[in-house]
Amino acid sequence: HPPVSQLEETSLLRRADCRSKGGASGFKVAILGAAGGIGQPLALLMKMNPLVSVLHLYDVVNAPGVTADISHMNTGAVVRGFLGQPQLEDALAGMDLVIIPAGVPRKPGMTRDDLFNINAGIVKTLCEGIVKCCPKAIVNLISNPVNSTVPIAAEVFKKAGTYDSKRLLGVTMLDVVRANTFVAEVLGIDPRDVNVPVVGGHAGVTILPLLSQVSPPCSFTPEEISYLTDRIQNGGTEVVEAKAGAGSATLSMAFAAAKFADACLRGLRGDAGVVECSFVASQVTELPFFASKVRLGRFGVEEVLPLGPLNEFERAGLEKAKKELSSYCQWRCLSLPGFL
Ligand code: NAD
Ligand code: LMR
Repeated sequence: HPPVSQLEETSLLRRADCRSKGGASGFKVAILGAAGGIGQPLALLMKMNPLVSVLHLYDVVNAPGVTADISHMNTGAVVRGFLGQPQLEDALAGMDLVIIPAGVPRKPGMTRDDLFNINAGIVKTLCEGIVKCCPKAIVNLISNPVNSTVPIAAEVFKKAGTYDSKRLLGVTMLDVVRANTFVAEVLGIDPRDVNVPVVGGHAGVTILPLLSQVSPPCSFTPEEISYLTDRIQNGGTEVVEAKAGAGSATLSMAFAAAKFADACLRGLRGDAGVVECSFVASQVTELPFFASKVRLGRFGVEEVLPLGPLNEFERAGLEKAKKELSSYCQWRCLSLPGFL
């Protein structure tokens, strides 16, 4: 028998050939932190995505086991595993999209900001790998605190001279997924038919659902608005408390990350009208980074869309969100000696 890697390459070539005959090409996607609570179900969902031709699974533990397991699924993507820092560069070489759920999750009583010290260093190391091996890749950053890890990644890329704000996207899709679910419950309709824009950031009051802009158009009582806003802003804490020390949202996050990655890949393919919310470099407010609807295209973020008309409640929420976001230690890493 030829060695497995040779078999893999042969099958990859065959599949690539089939695809070119079909007129479609697949994308190369890496997941960094692929053996974790989010990473494993996300790897499964990306292996099921027909737009993915190659899936690289990287982690500092258990990557071979997860890779062997996922690779037995009879879907199109070829899966390869990479374990530990010495294999990071091979994991990243040639990737079109890099999804990062690496890092520690919250336990009850913690804020997302409490994860900063550990996760900032992890994100910095992984982004340095991206600089070297796939500087043109689209990056989907999941690791918390997203309000700070996105600015950190931007600084790493700027320092290396590879920064392009269009390609760096903080993943806030879970806030939209939750908002759609909770709003659908209140309205008594199918959650798949609901779309709620959620803007601002990804922690507490920085998570601002725009309930006046829900699709399909609808209206809520003041009590419903108060209930929905509070539940959406604290959805992460609801899961952290229910898991009682065993981590934070993983399955719903993997679902949200897979949806968001699929939107990025459809944009890369050139599909028109792909719009999702994301925490990106922005001029929508005076803050350097802000989550809002963005139009995704061949180069990543093609347009950061304006917030649209806000009602009085949302205008007050926006002021709170901006105050909180600007007091966030977004730039704390820069004052750490030798951090960058
Ligand atoms: P987890 O502990 O289950 O998994 C994290 C994985 O990262 C582990 O497998 C670990 O080995 C790996 N890892 C650690 N250091 C690494 C490194 N240097 N390189 C590569 N991999 C490394 O945690 P989880 O539940 O999957 O959560 C991961 C992160 O995602 C947390 O920071 C969490 O707060 C965040 N999160 C974000 C959102 C969001 O909406 N953006 C939602 C849920 C969780
Ligand atoms: C979430 O919103 O579920 C994540 O940010 C994880 C957390 O710590 O709440």
